[in-house]
Amino acid sequence: MDFSPDFLRTWLLPRPLRYFEQVGSTNDVALEWLREGAESGAVVVADEQTQGRGRLGRGWYAPPGTAIMLSVILRPPADAVGRMTMLGAVVVCELIERLGASDVSIKWPNDVRLNGRKVCGILPEAAWSGDELLGVVLGIGLNVRIDFTDTPFAETAISIEPALGRSVTRLSLVMALLTLLQRWERHAASDNLFQAWKRRLSMLGSRVTVNAPDGAVTGTAEDVDATGALLLRLDDGTLRRLIAGDIALGE
Ligand code: BTN
Repeated sequence: MDFSPDFLRTWLLPRPLRYFEQVGSTNDVALEWLREGAESGAVVVADEQTQGRGRLGRGWYAPPGTAIMLSVILRPPADAVGRMTMLGAVVVCELIERLGASDVSIKWPNDVRLNGRKVCGILPEAAWSGDELLGVVLGIGLNVRIDFTDTPFAETAISIEPALGRSVTRLSLVMALLTLLQRWERHAASDNLFQAWKRRLSMLGSRVTVNAPDGAVTGTAEDVDATGALLLRLDDGTLRRLIAGDIALGE
């Protein structure tokens, strides 16, 4: 077994850990824990999720023993709240780069790609009490050794181990990820984080189509702003600001 919840629990102290062999969604557990008063830095990890959630209402599943599925509770200051997506993406990019991978990029807004294929998904979710923000749950799903052969993701997804050609333990990955997260968290509102995210974006300057919540739109991915929004130059010359969607190269 390449993961030890007991070791992680001790290593994390004084931050608490909730570990599950199987759970619905680590984000759901973390959101509930956040509402109950969990402190910033509390972590939820699962070996398998039965109701794992992805972006835009999609599901997220990985077989037991093959992936990292975790949610971290964060209570960021107001000026950093909108930066949680960027924070997760930059941390995971650094994690994978430190393993020796050279082709690591971000597909706007927050898919981390290794060798041009998705290796990690990030799902930040906020918990509110009326108008008051209680905190944010940063959900991260990282493919470590998922075999995508004969799946619909065979051409678009990748796992760390086959890409690197060597084994890595999920325990060491989680510890490195949480260390980087703690380091970057303090600088979440900084220009450094924005630049670290922006310079890894793969499609800036390219012609793209974005499937946004209110429909598909095509143009040139001209820039991003400091909130993480994509600035798309449409064919009629106008600039459209998009805050969510699925981006793809071409028409
Ligand atoms: C995406 O669609 O790209 C985001 C996927 C996020 C998946 C992770 S796995 C841990 C956490 N718990 C969930 O239910 N989802 C996130």
